[in-house]
Amino acid sequence: MSPTENPTAKPTNTNGMDWGMRSRMERLIPGGKRCFFLAVDHGYFLGPTSKLERPGETVEPLAQYADALFVTRGVLRSAIPANIDTSIILRISGGVSVTGTLEDEALTTSVEETLRLGADSVGVSVFIGSDLEHKTLMNLADAINQYERYGIPVMAVTAVGKELEKRDTRYLAMACRIAAELGARVVKTYYSENFEQITESCPVPVVIAGGPKTDDDLEVLTFVWDGIERGAVGVNLGRNVWQHEHPVAMAKALRAVIHDNAKPGEAIEIVREAKAKA
Ligand code: 5RP
Repeated sequence: MSPTENPTAKPTNTNGMDWGMRSRMERLIPGGKRCFFLAVDHGYFLGPTSKLERPGETVEPLAQYADALFVTRGVLRSAIPANIDTSIILRISGGVSVTGTLEDEALTTSVEETLRLGADSVGVSVFIGSDLEHKTLMNLADAINQYERYGIPVMAVTAVGKELEKRDTRYLAMACRIAAELGARVVKTYYSENFEQITESCPVPVVIAGGPKTDDDLEVLTFVWDGIERGAVGVNLGRNVWQHEHPVAMAKALRAVIHDNAKPGEAIEIVREAKAKA
């Protein structure tokens, strides 16, 4: 069964949205069906992440394959060309670093700034199950209260900080549902087995985050394909693209799975070809 035939796939429900919100959702998730968000926001807590030291150079060859870039205002202003045709999701939660308490985030960017920068959407992390759960959920709720007034969709990021073992289906389904209940228009979460248990209980589109770079390209393409089969609308992936030895080939392969219904075994050929030519 191809992802387009998947009965669990959940197209974006834009009923009742004003034109501005519908238009921004359409830029993020074309046709309300599938999306490839390229995440380059990692510096907001990690500093100069490997292969993202000069974000403009990293993004330049890749942006054309993505529907949206997930980026901070600092990198957007300083490194992303203003004529870019890719939608922008601003990361607006942060104020922490990897040396401290990752969960202790606040909202870092105002609505005015988001409008001034012309972003289509914003992203806020929540750390459910942490000591700062309430604070981060209220960050999300506050952002939604502010941004919905201007027709700007808020994407919730279900983050786990350093507790990577939290990424099981039951936990992620709970986190996604809570974020959607607070009003997030899109929810980003990690891939896990039986992913349909997450998408079926989440009333808004779910995108899959990548996690640390793996050496197994087929594994990445397979979890993306499987997640889409099980109802995800797409991905918000970073390191497995731009830390790859052939980032453009990896971006093309992901795009083939997400937008062209390629099977992982077909899409991997794009990467293998690039490797063979190198
Ligand atoms: C970092 C993020 C990233 O956007 C998200 O984790 C996706 O990137 P990667 O695929 O590298 O994990 O929210 O805080």
